[in-house]
Amino acid sequence: MSRVAYVNGRYVPFRDAKIHIEDRGYQFADAVYEVCEVRGGRLIDERRHLDRLGRSLGALRIRIPMTRAALGIVLREVVVRNRISFGTVYLQISRGVARRDPAFPAPDVAPSVVVTARPLNAARIDALAATGIAVVSVPDNRWGRVDIKTVGLLPNVLARQTAIEQGAREAWFVDQAGLVTEGASVNAWIVTQDGKLVTRHADHAILRGITRTVLLDAVKGEGLSLEERPFSLDEAHKAREAFVTSATQIVMPVVRIDGHVIGDGVPGRVATALRHRYYRYAEAG
Ligand code: PDD
Repeated sequence: MSRVAYVNGRYVPFRDAKIHIEDRGYQFADAVYEVCEVRGGRLIDERRHLDRLGRSLGALRIRIPMTRAALGIVLREVVVRNRISFGTVYLQISRGVARRDPAFPAPDVAPSVVVTARPLNAARIDALAATGIAVVSVPDNRWGRVDIKTVGLLPNVLARQTAIEQGAREAWFVDQAGLVTEGASVNAWIVTQDGKLVTRHADHAILRGITRTVLLDAVKGEGLSLEERPFSLDEAHKAREAFVTSATQIVMPVVRIDGHVIGDGVPGRVATALRHRYYRYAEAG
């Protein structure tokens, strides 16, 4: 089946989908994005993703190019046209195409909107969740507003590559105080020896993950105790469990951090239970 993308008002064959070379997303990473899970052909937590998109656009003063309802229709149309049952839909909005100049272009420059969708391999993700993944730590050298979901992801790219070259799947950023902020494309969590879930509070130093937000509801709903606070790498090494969350992996157990075995070296009870119960708390559109 041939893939279809949405580019600035048109559904086009994926191989022909193009953006101009002076698009500001391309030249300045002057663009924001969202990745939303598709499950059973339905968008998971579309409302929260579009809320966060609105906040990212507002923070960067990028004009919202179409109504929220219209954007929702496009997302769903791309899912349908690509016949995605389980996968992701990707949305990117840049400040548009203009002569290269860091200052904002004229107000009549239209933002560029791109939507793509692709299937995910559920069996592969479940197999990873059954064994757990390894992570490595890297210094957090990102800018001070990573709560805005921009496509400026070079530190994340380098961090993930470091992880892969060291035989791990994900990297955790650690700030100058030795505290874990988040992963290269996930939020980071631990379960302490006395059974408390800990994840960093959402400030400007992490992306407020939608999966993280839903999981906070799940944690409350399941009667687990939670602390939203920073944790150190040392605390993570000694944790009973660790895991990461994102729209593409939901709850993914972590069994090794920098070579230290976490807990029993197998996915923990809490992470596994939360992974199974996640969809009771998520919104399926
Ligand atoms: N990444 N932190 C970072 C830096 C991320 O890039 C992501 C998402 C998350 C988790 O957010 P959410 O739960 O809303 O997916 C946290 C997406 C999946 C990506 O860039 O592909």
